[in-house]
Amino acid sequence: MAEKQFAGGSEAEIAVHWGEEQLIHPTVEFIAQANMTDASIYKRFSLENFPNCFKEYADLLDWYEYWHTTLDTSDAPCWKWFVGGKINASYNCIDRHLAKNKNKTAIHFVPEPIDERYEHITYRELYVRVNEFAALLRDFAKLKKGDRVTLHMPMVPELPITMLACARLGVIHSQVFGGFSGRACADRIVDSQSRVLITMDAYWRSGTLGDHKQNADIACGLAATDGQKVDTVLVWQRYPGKASSPTPMVKGRDHFVNELLKDFYGARVEPEKMPAEAPLFLMYTSGTTGKPKGCQHSTGGYLAYVAGTSKFVQDIHPEDVYWCMADIGWITGHSYIVYGPLAVCASTVIYEGVPTFPDAGRAWRIAQDLGVNIFHTAPTAIRALRKLGPDEPAKYTYNFKHMTTVGEPIEPEVWRWYYNVVGKGKAAIVDTWWQTETGGFLCSTIPAITPMKPGSAGPGMPGIHPIIYDEAGNVIPPGAGRAGNICIQNPWPGGFQTIWGDRDRFVRTYYERYCKNPKSKEWRDWPYMTGDAAVEAPDGYFRILGRVDDVINVSGHRLGTKEIESAALVVEEVAEAAVVPVAHEIKGREPDLYVALKPGFTPSRELEKKISDAIAREIGKIAKPRKVWIVKDMPNMRRVLAAISNKKDVGDVTTLANPDIVEDIRKMAG
Ligand code: WTA
Repeated sequence: MAEKQFAGGSEAEIAVHWGEEQLIHPTVEFIAQANMTDASIYKRFSLENFPNCFKEYADLLDWYEYWHTTLDTSDAPCWKWFVGGKINASYNCIDRHLAKNKNKTAIHFVPEPIDERYEHITYRELYVRVNEFAALLRDFAKLKKGDRVTLHMPMVPELPITMLACARLGVIHSQVFGGFSGRACADRIVDSQSRVLITMDAYWRSGTLGDHKQNADIACGLAATDGQKVDTVLVWQRYPGKASSPTPMVKGRDHFVNELLKDFYGARVEPEKMPAEAPLFLMYTSGTTGKPKGCQHSTGGYLAYVAGTSKFVQDIHPEDVYWCMADIGWITGHSYIVYGPLAVCASTVIYEGVPTFPDAGRAWRIAQDLGVNIFHTAPTAIRALRKLGPDEPAKYTYNFKHMTTVGEPIEPEVWRWYYNVVGKGKAAIVDTWWQTETGGFLCSTIPAITPMKPGSAGPGMPGIHPIIYDEAGNVIPPGAGRAGNICIQNPWPGGFQTIWGDRDRFVRTYYERYCKNPKSKEWRDWPYMTGDAAVEAPDGYFRILGRVDDVINVSGHRLGTKEIESAALVVEEVAEAAVVPVAHEIKGREPDLYVALKPGFTPSRELEKKISDAIAREIGKIAKPRKVWIVKDMPNMRRVLAAISNKKDVGDVTTLANPDIVEDIRKMAG
């Protein structure tokens, strides 16, 4: 294979070892009930019918005013969809369902402790709680249209309630993954210029009620040092009226939401009629530099795209019980736990804790209890559940019609366990490939139309036209057996609008490489570069091989190598740091960290631990390296280190300034 050097070297190789898999068709029963069975959808969404084809998705929503321009390209490549349209996301996810479905469960909440009862929130109750909290945000926190507010919340119903209350007011929410550190939260507060932070005092994780309030104090302190003052911290209590965190409240700044809410009992807030292209939220993600990127998502285009894909790819019907096990702190949770499912009036499940707590049967018991029939998770979770309890699913009587895998490439062998054991050979599987930036799916099969192929995401979604370029910008045709950079030829409504406050970085990162004419206002000149490598089979199915840039996918979570390296450099003894991805049986990838010390310091176990702890403190536990290697000097070539970590041939090292060090490090890494 004549493809470029991939970071870590191993992504491409995994794929090379996979042969072509057979196509698997969904059951007759599945097809008989599916939302989308008309194969002409691909024709309707062909490039000839672009961009007007996306009206089909936008028409799934209720608009105050219809748009006059489907796609405005005048500020290329910052695309504007459905211009002239007025819409509110909170109204579309709640109010419009009340006439027919007010008593239906919108959210099933499953607390982690097994002795705590499930909570079932109807659409009517969601309406009440969102309205009251929106009134609090407006009248107490003084938030208004266009303001940004940072959320640092766990997996509890108060999180979607907060998001939807913001959306009701046109306030732009920026939810930071609950497992991220106070430092990471501070960086996002500063970048988005939030003066309000919304958090929760504590939450359950693996049997422990952890103190989360302390992260708010760290975040506010660090944000203030970096020039952004947070004047209001709204603290939801995990158990209203009961203290679950020992961290004291800061007078004048911190307020318990459940106490304030008493003043807003019965309040109703008219949804703001927002322009379709008004930002709905920011979602920060890792890139090639240390600074996370605030992906700015629109209201109308985004909601249309997630509603359409929830209906046609997730096959959600109002009577389904849908459980996506992702965290709402990631894009998957925003699009496919909250906005997409609620827009199509689903019952969506939110589970607070770890899927294997207290044992490998927990997930299947939840599915059985709630009658979940659509299940959505990541290869990492599938691998973990398979390892811990390969025969566990057969013990439960749940009945899935549909399952999703997302976030990482899935090995065909793991796919087959998912299909045969979890899905009991009946559930249709979609392998959905997409990104924080893209708002919704890019490649996937449509479950009743295109058959499944283990290990392949499938063809481009309707209206998404992928293309693979080699390094020189030539198109690699289907069936060429070569990998390249997968790009999307056209814009689509779910795509992010820009990087918050950094249009140059947006253009540089995603468009510069393959742009045909930087002055052009024509969308055809601006292919979107995803940063992933892929191969296209003769049948048009794409197999995604993984990132080609400095991003490591750990358990389906995106981490920047530079972010981890900068965190290591916070430790005063560290002079240089380099991170490489290492293959891991469950997590897919793990970071390995190499550091060289400043003169006068000596390596020790304690120092390794200090560095590892610093990374957990700076970013979050998910970024902790598998191993910290303290080396004498740094070969300064990630490729060489990755080869050593993965026990592969280091290749030609003669061009390095210090080739001898390579042998030293290799011996040390065993
Ligand atoms: C990877 C998550 C293979 C890919 C929605 C992408 C996948 C990155 C798949 C985005 C899949 C996501 N098969 N790889 N089905 N889905 N990826 O932004 O490398 O957290 O670029 O969005 O995950 O991760 P992000």
